[in-house]
Amino acid sequence: MTVRSRIIGCGSYLPSTILTNEELASRVDTSDEWITARTGIKQRHIAAEGETTSDLAVNAARMAMDHAGITAADIDLIIVATATPDNTFPATATKVQARLGVTGFAFDIQAVCSGFIYALTTADMYIRNGQAKTALVIGAETFSRILDWEDRRTCVLFGDGAGAVIVQATTGTGSTDDQGILASRLHSDGSKYELLYVDGGPSSTQTVGHVQMEGKEVFRHAVTNLASVIHEVLADTGMDIHDIDWLVPHQANRRILDGTARKFGISPDKVVITVDRHANTSAASIPLALSEAVHDGRIKRGQIIILEAMGGGFTWGASLIRW
Ligand code: UT7
Repeated sequence: MTVRSRIIGCGSYLPSTILTNEELASRVDTSDEWITARTGIKQRHIAAEGETTSDLAVNAARMAMDHAGITAADIDLIIVATATPDNTFPATATKVQARLGVTGFAFDIQAVCSGFIYALTTADMYIRNGQAKTALVIGAETFSRILDWEDRRTCVLFGDGAGAVIVQATTGTGSTDDQGILASRLHSDGSKYELLYVDGGPSSTQTVGHVQMEGKEVFRHAVTNLASVIHEVLADTGMDIHDIDWLVPHQANRRILDGTARKFGISPDKVVITVDRHANTSAASIPLALSEAVHDGRIKRGQIIILEAMGGGFTWGASLIRW
């Protein structure tokens, strides 16, 4: 008997305000043509004044709980992946916990765009060692609050949103026929800290700071690191790319998504894409994309999916799941 972590429900939330490329082009020196050609992004959602990361997270969590058919009493662990917490401390997860009325324990994980993979992998560990039975795992971000809206190199790339999943312990046989998370791999390389970072923080500047990125360098590393981590989870399960029904990647740039699909010979219609409508929502992008593809019926029980992400740190990782 093997304990497996199975995703039994998912949800998402996007703020109602949409900011199009055309609107952005009236504020900074950019154009819809440049943004579309370089990134595939057409629009992003922006949180309303006073709407915080925990607000987005709670909305996504409620949808995931409804989908899973569970109540707050069933949840014993909450992990929120975010780089844009409501406050420096306590963890945004504790605010979510109080608003949902959950007991048990709650904490945040900070791995920027890879945060959801880190959080899901952490929840899987707690479940498999028996410390939790049902976990709420959320990726939620208000990146609009840490952008320099005069810096065209970064402000066109990001958006706000949240996605959530309910992960529950189930019994498997230990084979790859089991439903649930079958393999996960995490990596980081702190020597690349300054290629993608925020130039502020409580201990360094006592300010919140703005996103700074060496886009070309990040792009180059993203393609290489994502390819190698996908190979790792395939090797861990003895599967090959032809066994994969869906790739649900972090949504940073359409060119990275197309490049990854090409590299692995995956048909583009097996890649879930939301970057055109959501832009890069950091830790929220994978659960947002996952929720969309589950609720519109593309992802079906029994199928094999790979989630993968790369972000600041650098951090990167992947999970291979039988849905
Ligand atoms: O989520 C974490 C992971 N993040 C990523 O994976 C992001 C990876 N990087 C990228 O997606 C791309 O590098 C970007 C989309 C950020 C940039 O695309 P690029 O093809 O690497 O462009 P670039 O930075 O080399 O800039 C090319 C030109 C520059 O002008 P010059 O120096 O050639 O005259 C920029 O100043 O484009 C200019 N540029 C812009 N022009 C219009 C930069 N931003 C803009 C803009 N509008 N918004």
